[in-house]
Amino acid sequence: MGEELRLLLSPERIAERVKELGREISQLYRGRPLVLLGILKGAFVFLADLMRAIDLPEVQVDFIRLKSYGFSDTSAGEVQITKDVELPLRGKDVLVVEDIVDTGYTLAFLREHLRTHEPASVRFCCFIDKAERRKVPLELDFVGFKIPRGFLVGYGLDYAERYRHLPGVYEVLLQK
Ligand code: IMP
Ligand code: MG
Repeated sequence: MGEELRLLLSPERIAERVKELGREISQLYRGRPLVLLGILKGAFVFLADLMRAIDLPEVQVDFIRLKSYGFSDTSAGEVQITKDVELPLRGKDVLVVEDIVDTGYTLAFLREHLRTHEPASVRFCCFIDKAERRKVPLELDFVGFKIPRGFLVGYGLDYAERYRHLPGVYEVLLQK
């Protein structure tokens, strides 16, 4: 019983990549106020680091919490909002910050939901892209790392609510 963890991304490697993303984001939104919209819970660690790597005079932060139904580690296309956005998004440039994009169901749902808030633009920044597992087409504007397979934990990512606090990213190896 139990599981073994294999290190995939060291804290140093993550920090370097997050700084690069911050620079790219700062360039794209230069001169425009930006709203960072984090998806709870997984994205809160990434968002906390990313926002401090963004060099813009006007940045606001908000969160939305989404619950997906299906198996415990994958979403099955049905997504529910358990905490909605609180800042007014009308006419704003919104950058959605997500931990992992897997099937894409979560972000596809959010993309539609955000239309009702009438933002000026919506873009997506994800820490890890599991592109090979995509079920719905989705364009990601900023991607931290591409990791095709495996169940990942750490840096905000959990396995049954465990391991979010680890500073690196690990693959969970299940013991038989
Ligand atoms: P999607 O709707 O299939 O794209 O699912 C994305 C969500 O599933 C992410 O926000 C994560 O919360 C969760 N998820 C997918 N893969 C992993 C993983 O390897 N570790 C932890 N959570 C994951
Ligand atoms: Mg998530």
